Amino acid sequence: MPKIVLGYCDKVDVDLAKKIAQQWQFEYIGDVAAIKQRDDIDFLLQVDQQVLSLKKLDEPKLGGIVVDFVEGASAHRRKFGGGRGQDIAKAVGLKHGFTPSVLDATAGLGRDAFVLASLGCNVTLNERVPAVAALLENGLSRANLSTEIAPITKNMVLRHGSSIDAMTACGEHDVVYLDPMYPHREKSAAVKKEMRVFQTLVGEDLDADDLFEPAYALAKYRVVVKRPNYADFIAGKKPSMSIKMKKNRFDVYVKQAIPKG
Ligand SMILES: C[S@@+](CC[C@H](N)C(=O)[O-])C[C@H]1O[C@@H](n2cnc3c(N)ncnc32)[C@H](O)[C@@H]1O
Repeated sequence: MPKIVLGYCDKVDVDLAKKIAQQWQFEYIGDVAAIKQRDDIDFLLQVDQQVLSLKKLDEPKLGGIVVDFVEGASAHRRKFGGGRGQDIAKAVGLKHGFTPSVLDATAGLGRDAFVLASLGCNVTLNERVPAVAALLENGLSRANLSTEIAPITKNMVLRHGSSIDAMTACGEHDVVYLDPMYPHREKSAAVKKEMRVFQTLVGEDLDADDLFEPAYALAKYRVVVKRPNYADFIAGKKPSMSIKMKKNRFDVYVKQAIPKG
């Protein structure tokens, strides 16, 4: 288990830093300068002007991971990403007249969930790694303060815990979306800096196959699994159809037809 601690950069963030540390059970170190006296820490979560970020201390050049739905890549994709015509929308069965509720059982940094929410879906996000869930929650709460983005993020509900356990008692969802980590082929230098920090924190989700059965039992209409193009089917199950993209594909497991709008 990597050692993760949490601190603030400036005193204005003391209350939020303490609150996050307590909620997610991270060791609280106060001012982040305190890490200089320590050599046992792998990751630093820091609060700077209300923004929570995660840094890998032995590779400071990689920068920090932040969840930001208001600016950056998510905002760009929301404006220019192709709306209901994009592959993820087709995969979950978004059609005129039908907008599914989605359980994103492997939420990660919430990017796919945000795309679905911006297309009108109610999305429940489940994430099991506390540091990732904390980043997500911070990103969601900042987005909820933006008049432009709050109408989208209000449709995103975050839960913490393993989806393998939670899905058996998870209410009803039209679609279950799965995007577990998959062993990466690219040499680490080719993987984006941010992804390298994320990969070393989260690992490879070696139990990913165990997500399929509970997901299929729970979904009303379909399960969608995002995989790298070179990856086998999840749990060895052949999908009803696949939507291929440049590097990834969506494997779609249909249970019953999406209602006609
Ligand atoms: C590849 S990332 C997902 C990226 C996400 N689709 C996005 O757009 O940001 C996979 C995430 O799923 C989480 N995960 C894997 N298995 C899980 C499980 N059984 N329950 C909850 N979260 C899980 C991992 O911790 C990791 O954060």
